[in-house]
Amino acid sequence: MIAREIKPDILSLSVIDWDRRLFDQLVPLPEGTTYNSYLVKGSEKTALIDTVYPPNTAEYLELLKKSGIQKLDYIVANHGEQDHSGSIPAVLAMFPEAKVVTNARCKGLIAESLLVPDDKFIEVADGDKLSLGNKSLRFFLTPWVHWPDTMVTYLAEDKILFTCDFFGSHLASSDLYAQDEARVHDAAKRYYAEIMMPFRMHIQKHLKKLAPLKIDMIAPGHGPVYARPAFILDLYKDWSSDNLRKEVVIPYVSMYDSTTQMVSYLIDRLMEKGLTVSPHNMVGVDPGHFAKSLVDASTVVFASPAVLAGPHPDIVSAAYLMNALRPKAKMVSVVGSFGWGGNIVSTRIVELLSGLKKQLHFLDPVLIKGLPKEEDFRALDRLVEEIYQANLQLDVAAPAKSL
Ligand code: FEO
Repeated sequence: MIAREIKPDILSLSVIDWDRRLFDQLVPLPEGTTYNSYLVKGSEKTALIDTVYPPNTAEYLELLKKSGIQKLDYIVANHGEQDHSGSIPAVLAMFPEAKVVTNARCKGLIAESLLVPDDKFIEVADGDKLSLGNKSLRFFLTPWVHWPDTMVTYLAEDKILFTCDFFGSHLASSDLYAQDEARVHDAAKRYYAEIMMPFRMHIQKHLKKLAPLKIDMIAPGHGPVYARPAFILDLYKDWSSDNLRKEVVIPYVSMYDSTTQMVSYLIDRLMEKGLTVSPHNMVGVDPGHFAKSLVDASTVVFASPAVLAGPHPDIVSAAYLMNALRPKAKMVSVVGSFGWGGNIVSTRIVELLSGLKKQLHFLDPVLIKGLPKEEDFRALDRLVEEIYQANLQLDVAAPAKSL
């Protein structure tokens, strides 16, 4: 844990969770995470912006004590999920005069899940301002990044946008700022894929809403602070846009090598066509890599053997994840090998992707019996050509074609 000044009278209070490996028992955290809270000392009032994850409350209170504040007037809650709001009851016990400043939806969540009484809240609406004396906070509702209650807080005098989950990254790092942009890019993209991508259209809307603000710094609830906000804003504009890469993602599983032979052939032919290929063996791996590759890929080909009247469970899981994360891919197909009952593999995958049926074009599957034979490779050639032609129609530059 550490308190660091990001501008005069503004402290970042960070708990760095180096060891956490799973979020919500669901999202893998290969690089841990941070819970960032910010203290803003105005000439008349002091505000804390968000708190931290409940198991880290004791060390967080130590950090607050070390910050030297004698009184706290406001606790701004940008979001009700407990990794940011969970220490509010303990902070209220330490500073009983403080009020929780938040929007109506977030207030409801915090009141219900943390049992904070009604008289402890100040409810704010979109665009409301709160004066701290020589500094002022302005609140903008940004619902569905990633819960219905989410908002951001703008400190106009210092041009800092406090965004909680929005623009965050699950990255335990000693860096206060995102100076290692390649590393942060990777973590932020994975975070976007796993948490924000289902709400892409909301993000587009919020980016437009926030565009008129002059922003010198973006201070998120997870990961390093952006001292160069254009870095993350441009990435979010691109990720949330309709732009697609000519990229084929191939989640695959093989039991007796037949499906692997098909996947290897497919990868080589697609590469020869100049397409980017991202194969993912889904057995026992971190699904975050697969999720990240879905952010801008145009095409997904599921490759699975038939198991118990359907695809392999790890491919079922990959299709379920894709349906839930709602990437912007346009083409999908299925390949695989079976001993018996092969067509059911494709039927099940189409069913699992039912939430995306309006946007997806399903290319004919290539499902074969046993090891691939000459006619099976020709069927894969036809699929490759179909994928290539469909990608040619996309309005993006193709990577250089190999000789
Ligand atoms: Fe939605 Fe970082 O919590």
